[in-house]
Amino acid sequence: MPNSHHNGHDVRDLGMAAAGRKRIEWADRQMPVLRLIRERFAKDLPLKGQRLGACLHVTCETANLLRALKAGGAEVLCCASNPLSTQDDVAAALVNEYGIPVFAIHDEDRNTYYNHLRAVLSRHPTITMDDGADLVSLLHTEFRDQAHEVRASMEETTTGVIRLRAMARDGALKIPVVAVNDAQTKHLFDNRYGTGQSTLDGVIRATGVLIAGSVVVVAGFGWCGRGVASRARGLGADVVVTEVEPIPALEAAMEGFRVMPMEEAAKVGDIFISVTGDRSVLGPSHFSLMKDGAILCNSGHFDVEIDLAYLNDTAEKVERNVTNHVDAYRLKNGRTLYVLGQGRLVNLACAEGHPAQVMDMSFATQAMASQWAATRDPLPVSVHEVPREIENEVASLKLAAMGIRIDTLTEEQKRYLSSWQSGT
Ligand SMILES: NC(=O)c1ccc[n+]([C@@H]2O[C@H](COP(=O)([O-])OP(=O)(O)OC[C@H]3O[C@@H](n4cnc5c(N)ncnc54)[C@H](O)[C@@H]3O)[C@@H](O)[C@H]2O)c1
Repeated sequence: MPNSHHNGHDVRDLGMAAAGRKRIEWADRQMPVLRLIRERFAKDLPLKGQRLGACLHVTCETANLLRALKAGGAEVLCCASNPLSTQDDVAAALVNEYGIPVFAIHDEDRNTYYNHLRAVLSRHPTITMDDGADLVSLLHTEFRDQAHEVRASMEETTTGVIRLRAMARDGALKIPVVAVNDAQTKHLFDNRYGTGQSTLDGVIRATGVLIAGSVVVVAGFGWCGRGVASRARGLGADVVVTEVEPIPALEAAMEGFRVMPMEEAAKVGDIFISVTGDRSVLGPSHFSLMKDGAILCNSGHFDVEIDLAYLNDTAEKVERNVTNHVDAYRLKNGRTLYVLGQGRLVNLACAEGHPAQVMDMSFATQAMASQWAATRDPLPVSVHEVPREIENEVASLKLAAMGIRIDTLTEEQKRYLSSWQSGT
């Protein structure tokens, strides 16, 4: 068991708290919708009596979500959903300035990472929140005796929802979960514009390379891939897309991107970015074809998209941290490949994750979905969608915050749109 139990939290250095608070407050200024929800929560206390265990990227934006949940009356605890995304100053500020126990240290090893999840579950949460379903998985294995205590769990990302749907299909799921990722106010914006911008930000911060004129290969043209490809193009890259599904491949082609199999893309790419949620997308059959100096990174949830085990086993020479977060692998053919952020989410490992303005929508959706799950009759055990009214409210509040007004249907238009009689 981790020593974190002894003092009720485990962070790098509480001395960093003041710096963390500044960044949390700066993010808060860009999160008007979440702020409004925090104010409402403080009045209505919809989460009173709930103990909320969150396993999320420990960033300034997450800190503001946790503040809102605490304002809503919940007792809140937090651990990291990725060892490399933790911002130690934010973790310190949460503990010291906001009274929220955190169990997360940047670059913690696998054992510590799981001990931190255990520290949260051992406090018996009644609502859990995940980014990738690690906490729920542990709740279904080591902590399965506690599963009945959990009223609902919120899932933030595509990969987590896929895991949970697989559990539901196998009859293994024991608690109701809400697929926050699948809300339009989440994936249409966070996965696309958030991942689009912050992934390029990660590549640039780590390497400083010029994107203009580079061949950027984007593996996967889902919500994240659409964003990454369009932002890379915006910076002047020649973008190549690889896919396994015909419809997104066609969409990429009609968006004007070159589409080809990875075996061909491997030969022409300068920068490779995987965002598939799949494994070994960049693997043994590709590495040997790549140009000397090619840059490889991943923005999909797990660090399995680039086959690093193979690279580690077969490279002639591995040089860690040749510059910030960049590992160099010299292959037997004499060429060197550069891997960013150990193949983990490059936008979080090498940059600071999504901009606060987009997390405002994801986390407003999270907060309202938690309220919904906490205050209604217990949900049946399955994977639930976020109710449409919540999505519409989050979008309306965001528009209002951006100072954008839209039209309203007239009575005549409502009648027309709901009738089948009027035609040509
Ligand atoms: N970096 C971040 O901050 C961030 C944010 C949101 C989501 N994610 C993660 O990014 C991943 C993608 O999410 P999404 O919402 O775009 O998912 P998605 O399902 O919309 O898209 C994934 C796409 O990848 C394609 N694909 C699967 N295997 C492939 C392969 N071998 N080669 C090429 N294409 C392949 C699929 O056909 C699909 O079109 C997930 O793991 C998700 O959890 C990361």
